[in-house]
Amino acid sequence: MALGATQCGFESRRPYVLDVDSDRDFVVLGDCAKVLPDLPDGAFQLIYIDPPFNTGKPQQRRTIRTIRDEDGDRTGFAGRRYATTEVARHAYLDVHDDYLGMLEPLLTEARRLLTASGTLYLHIDYREAHHVKMLLDGIFGRDAFLNELIWAYDFGGRARDRWPAKHDTILVYVRTPGGHFFDQDAVERIPYLAPGLVGPEKAARGKLPTDVWWHTIVPTNGTEKTGYPNQKPEGILRRILQASSRPDDRVLDFFAGSGTTGAVAHELGRRFVLVDSNPDAVEIMRNRLPGATAFSVV
Ligand SMILES: C[S@@+](CC[C@H](N)C(=O)[O-])C[C@H]1O[C@@H](n2cnc3c(N)ncnc32)[C@H](O)[C@@H]1O
Repeated sequence: MALGATQCGFESRRPYVLDVDSDRDFVVLGDCAKVLPDLPDGAFQLIYIDPPFNTGKPQQRRTIRTIRDEDGDRTGFAGRRYATTEVARHAYLDVHDDYLGMLEPLLTEARRLLTASGTLYLHIDYREAHHVKMLLDGIFGRDAFLNELIWAYDFGGRARDRWPAKHDTILVYVRTPGGHFFDQDAVERIPYLAPGLVGPEKAARGKLPTDVWWHTIVPTNGTEKTGYPNQKPEGILRRILQASSRPDDRVLDFFAGSGTTGAVAHELGRRFVLVDSNPDAVEIMRNRLPGATAFSVV
């Protein structure tokens, strides 16, 4: 395929076509509403998306560094003083007048883009989960609903006037009811809660995860942390990709943020296409996934 002009390391041309049959990976800067219609039918075995949750406020994350300084602005352990410097700040807007109206054409495109045995995973929280599930029922059909996964974590502030909300929902829909790919054996097993009840052999093998996944958030000091707001843990994506794709399959994430889907796809030998409209996100993805070809369609 002939490629267009390279601008600041981005390949850019109109109309652009991603050569999804090649063995290249792509990071695309652009509005997914403009990018998806140009992708070919049935090109992806797995689509994972984590759209903005419609919280009604900008999502922002600051990364700070602290150093010992007697005149610093913070007090730490044993009364020591520290000065803080902001080293990075990343943000994206999360205010949508018509959230379902924004998602509907994108989810219709997602269905078109899946292979006959393909699967969509849509990550959402309690504000919109029930509305989005009904929307997906309408687009994919109720019989295409496979699972409602609950990712439970335990981190951050706790409300005092209600049960603290400490879970996200991942809705799973298949392109062809009963004809989807799912490899249970490829999924990493987890320890039994009560290993004493199942015998030593079973306890050593561990058990398959159910539809409730206890998993930490991205560790604040871990190597996978990029500083991007609402970055999801690689462990969650690893489980999804292991179950619903094979090596060399192509995976799409069109609200890609820091590129967690691409990082795990690369680790597991899958090809990926990542799309985000925020230049900050694309910059992070280009650093995290230096082997991918970067496209700009803005
Ligand atoms: C919750 S974040 C995704 C985080 C990601 N899963 C990760 O692990 O880093 C949602 C992303 O959707 C992007 N986004 C919002 N509207 C978009 C659009 N129309 N097209 C492409 N990306 C969009 C935002 O810039 C943001 O990076």
